[in-house]
Amino acid sequence: MATELILPQPDDWHVHVRDGALLNTVVPYSARQFARALIMPNLQPPVTTCEQALAYRQRILAAVPSGQSFNPLMTLYLTDHTDPLDITRAALNECILAAKLYPAGATTHSEAGVTAIERLDPVLDTLQEQGLVLCVHGEVTDADVDLFDREAVFIDRILAPLVRRFPALKVVLEHITTREGVEFVRDSSGLIAATITPQHLLYNRNALFRGGLRPHYYCLPVLKRETHRQALLEAATSGNPKFFLGTDSAPHRRQDKESACGCAGCFSAPAALELYAEAFEHAGALDQLAGFASHYGADFYGLARNTATVTLVRDRWQVPETLPCNGDTLIPLAAGETLSWRLRD
Ligand code: NCD
Ligand code: ZN
Repeated sequence: MATELILPQPDDWHVHVRDGALLNTVVPYSARQFARALIMPNLQPPVTTCEQALAYRQRILAAVPSGQSFNPLMTLYLTDHTDPLDITRAALNECILAAKLYPAGATTHSEAGVTAIERLDPVLDTLQEQGLVLCVHGEVTDADVDLFDREAVFIDRILAPLVRRFPALKVVLEHITTREGVEFVRDSSGLIAATITPQHLLYNRNALFRGGLRPHYYCLPVLKRETHRQALLEAATSGNPKFFLGTDSAPHRRQDKESACGCAGCFSAPAALELYAEAFEHAGALDQLAGFASHYGADFYGLARNTATVTLVRDRWQVPETLPCNGDTLIPLAAGETLSWRLRD
């Protein structure tokens, strides 16, 4: 049995690093694991302009421990009032790669998101023209649609027509969670891709209710049934370059998760690569991890692949139960669980 796994340094194509004190705590975890990361713009207020994105990028860089290199790549948050000119400006800056569509009300800090997709046509036109990527939180928010069906309904009602209207637009369906998501992406043109999180590869929705309510396994889109997890695992390990790594690491303070109305988001950054390795090994597909974690995302975004390497060592270790954060506490994904691979420093 292999005792070491050497991979090209991976990138994280979907991560939330927050701002302020929380940013300073969480950025080092991502910087330790990943060469580059696509930073989500759902701050309060959201990152809607190039100026805001570049200022945010500087705050992230200032939190990178000395001796580590980490390249944060930025996204703009789309609203009903996004000016296509901001998209044109973003396209001129190599640190801004994408615009993020949050349907209003779909997830954490999405209140300022888009309320009617038709209003976005001039912006989507400009994205398509400029070759920027549209990153999509793919869930409808209608109260009459069952929470577990929101991704599949979004694909039918919003995404499929959008892709038909903008056939040259590059789209990433973020953090896919369903068989329908896998099939849509697989059967679309080469311009349509998807990120997959570690939690959706490792757990099904039972994890939310195992012996009681488990808020640290609650994220959006929510974990689905086992058949969907199987479809995601097959896609991630298939070698199809449309599916690549995006952790959706989304830290919230412990008291904001363990609450009568707990926040959505799993904090996976501390053991991200190890969690993916666990999932790939269980599927007998460790040989596919390099493509998924280190190559396909860079290829999709049109960037050079990383040349440095990282080493995973076969070494059982326990994910910490808690992590300190400026007098508060963060609970990492898989807290207390034993993993088989450890990233060597
Ligand atoms: C994310 C967050 O907390 O910012 N939460 C989550 O459950 N994934 C937002 C998001 O990506 O939906
Ligand atoms: Zn996210």
